Amino acid sequence: MKMKVLIVFGGVSSEHDVSLVSARSVINNIPADKYDVLTMGITKEGVSYLYTGSPDNLPEGKWLENPEYLERCVISPDREHHGIIHIGSGETERVDVVFPVLHGKNGEDGTMQGLLEISGIPFVGCKTAASAVCMDKSLTNALLDYHKVSQAKWVAVNKFDFTGEKEKFAREAADYLGFPIFVKPANAGSSVGIRKASDIESLVDACDYAFEFDKKIVLEENITGAEVECAVLGNDEPIASTVGEIVPCNDFYDYDAKYIANATGLYIPARLPDEKIEEIRQKAVRIYKLLGCSGLTRVDFFVRESDGEVMLNELNTIPGFTSISMYPKLFAASGIEYPELIDRLILYALEN
Ligand SMILES: Nc1ncnc2c1ncn2[C@@H]1O[C@H](COP(=O)(O)OP(=O)(O)O)[C@@H](O)[C@H]1O
Ligand SMILES: [Mg+2]
Repeated sequence: MKMKVLIVFGGVSSEHDVSLVSARSVINNIPADKYDVLTMGITKEGVSYLYTGSPDNLPEGKWLENPEYLERCVISPDREHHGIIHIGSGETERVDVVFPVLHGKNGEDGTMQGLLEISGIPFVGCKTAASAVCMDKSLTNALLDYHKVSQAKWVAVNKFDFTGEKEKFAREAADYLGFPIFVKPANAGSSVGIRKASDIESLVDACDYAFEFDKKIVLEENITGAEVECAVLGNDEPIASTVGEIVPCNDFYDYDAKYIANATGLYIPARLPDEKIEEIRQKAVRIYKLLGCSGLTRVDFFVRESDGEVMLNELNTIPGFTSISMYPKLFAASGIEYPELIDRLILYALEN
């Protein structure tokens, strides 16, 4: 008998649209001989539907256009259900495993993972705690400082504490970090809310802007160097892919450079000596284990130009997952093709 997989997409997240594109690829590439696939979409407002239409209609929200393919349903937290509840009929339907293809808040940050842990349904990817830590850049940074992992100098601040002493905070941060400074919402992704500030005035503006996306923000010293990414896969004995390099077509790897401009350079493997690539792979696995990741995570670094220091940037526990995204491409380059990658991820979910 085939296993029943529930693929979840969309979500109340600034990365909703990216999820639609990732999920289309997963649905189109999951080995059909092994899995029965159910697809569940969560709207930007947080309303969930079982979706029975074509995966090709996911991007740009077209999946919501035809009510014929939509049926209200929810994931049940009840372990006896071990699946979904059809709201109309009240019937339950068992699923064997969930693949959350959700990026950012309410999907990649431990919240969906918490629901799935309560439900008792195995699911692809990191558990609740690792998801939450990797999603929140200030938690990631603090924990990795503790473990002496090299990363940019940083400070975090809450909206309440920032408001009222903006200039003072900005001046102190600038004294410590030096310009330019990256300002990021603590919890976001796809470069949403991120700006690079070059003086006190633009720093205050960048902080105000980042606070539109989160109540906590992170400021970081600028690292000049190559931007590289390593894909990690597995549970207790994770494996690392080769390393990929990104050459953003804009000043930094912002939303436009990621998804719109279509001119960002991508090198697999990265244009680095073999020893450096090996060092990055080993660091990626070490960090993956330190933060308690499981299933998959993409670990992103800078290789500082001045001295070759490998510095962690961030972890993505549900990285972009289209067939041309870095994570699947890195494993394809390492001999694991996209459908096999999905298959392995599901096996790791069941093992966990
Ligand atoms: N400390 C930094 N030094 C230099 N560039 C940075 C730094 N932090 C972020 N960037 C640039 O901004 C981009 C987005 O930042 P990142 O922390 O990866 O956020 P997101 O989670 O939105 O991807 C990075 O890919 C990189 O190009
Ligand atoms: Mg990033």
